[in-house]
Amino acid sequence: MSKIMMVASEVAPFIKTGGLADVMGSLPAALVRAGESVTVVMPRYRGVDAPDFYRLREDLPVWLNGFRHRVDIDACDREGVRYLFVDAPWFYNRDGVYTSGGKDWGDNHIRYAILCLAALAIAREIDAPEIFHVHDWQTALLPVYQKSWFGGDPRLIGAKTMLTIHNLGYQGRFGPSAMGELGLDQGLFHSGVMEYHGDVNLLKGGLLESDWLTTVSPRYAQEIQTAEYGFGLEGLLRERSHSLTGILNGVDYRDWDPATDRFLPANYSPEDLSGKQACKRDLIEYFGLPPEAMDRPLIGIVSRFAEQKGFDLIEQIAGALADEPMSLVVLGSGNAHWENMFRHLTSWRPDKFANWIGFSNEMAHKIEAGSDIFLMPSRYEPCGLNQIYSLKYGTPPVVRATGGLDDTIDGETGFKFWEYHPDALLKGVRYAIQKWFDRDGWQERMRRGMAKDYSWDRSAGEYQRLYAQLLGR
Ligand code: ADP
Ligand code: GLC
Repeated sequence: MSKIMMVASEVAPFIKTGGLADVMGSLPAALVRAGESVTVVMPRYRGVDAPDFYRLREDLPVWLNGFRHRVDIDACDREGVRYLFVDAPWFYNRDGVYTSGGKDWGDNHIRYAILCLAALAIAREIDAPEIFHVHDWQTALLPVYQKSWFGGDPRLIGAKTMLTIHNLGYQGRFGPSAMGELGLDQGLFHSGVMEYHGDVNLLKGGLLESDWLTTVSPRYAQEIQTAEYGFGLEGLLRERSHSLTGILNGVDYRDWDPATDRFLPANYSPEDLSGKQACKRDLIEYFGLPPEAMDRPLIGIVSRFAEQKGFDLIEQIAGALADEPMSLVVLGSGNAHWENMFRHLTSWRPDKFANWIGFSNEMAHKIEAGSDIFLMPSRYEPCGLNQIYSLKYGTPPVVRATGGLDDTIDGETGFKFWEYHPDALLKGVRYAIQKWFDRDGWQERMRRGMAKDYSWDRSAGEYQRLYAQLLGR
């Protein structure tokens, strides 16, 4: 058994903006089932609350730049995992997780430094782990602080650090004054450590200082070592390739299974698919698509509207899609340009396009179930969870062959295209539409996808082996 402390900026069901929260909401419990001891540390944002929360520690000392911040630690215990919430209202009791009105909070570097320092304070004052497992740029400072400030602390001697890269596109870059604000030695501000094109790069610091690195799919671990996907950090990642492992994310079928999904108007399974038709009808009626939409494939999208997700390709084929025998329903939010694009498409062709601009977990489930085809033409995709959910929901996905999309989808279960080009996407979508009209063949394809098993147990085992290896066991 290894003793792990995971630290992350979002954890389902407490707070979620994307797939990181899904992973943090299910990997820890899978590790516990496999015999590990896991504590998860996250911020207590506004609205993070539940009846089983209790106060673990009042006024834990967290020091930054000679100033002692008031931090309380709340806790709850679920499925053998202890969740700890860093309660520092000045930093976390706000109306957005990372942003407000579309702009990043100006003090995000401080907010996440406090999270890392609170986790280290918990380790020193309450219970020390053998491994700190951190995720993405928000917690990449933890290994940096551990090495530069607490290297000699007897309570942390021998503790190892692992950093999982869920998305290299977000690195936590701040102006040079951040070094001082974070209490970091100016000596670290050079291109061999945290400096990057004149900025402080928090992820870069973590990539250098962590004992081990992982990515969320094997394919992405290879891709980030190339200029196309490395976001400028490919050289550093190549240097560290001997301590870099790709482990495919799992999914939690207790939340994502059409046979038990409580958000659906009807449940279904590979043995009896009839409920899926009811889900499609419900969706079509809800969005006001015409009844004929039942007789053509319904394409679904659930996504953050971010550069990464391939919406520029969708924009370029939208006109051509309108002429195809299909309808498209979109759930998402983010970049205002794509939000407006989908609004315009709906007002232009309400018989073909429907949208929900916003975030709704319930609607995400309904679209996975009610659609016939799922669309994920990502420019890059570290893992991607929606394509794995869509397999389970009998909704074969059209994906670009990159990262985890390439690792999880094949020609038997879905449709892949390679080149990042609108023609390649259009060809893939047209092919899927054509295949949908072969009803028997389509049902076989659905069933092949539904039979795939991407539950966490296998991937949790891979993390376990890495933990043991890091601890020399
Ligand atoms: P990413 O983390 O890059 O956003 P993933 O595919 O790994 O991509 O995970 C996205 C997660 O967020 C999925 O659980 C998906 O259902 C959910 N999601 C994304 N956008 C929305 C939305 N607008 N409303 C509800 N859930 C969403
Ligand atoms: C990131 C990636 C996504 C991945 C998720 C969970 O947000 O964009 O591909 O599935 O993290 O690891």
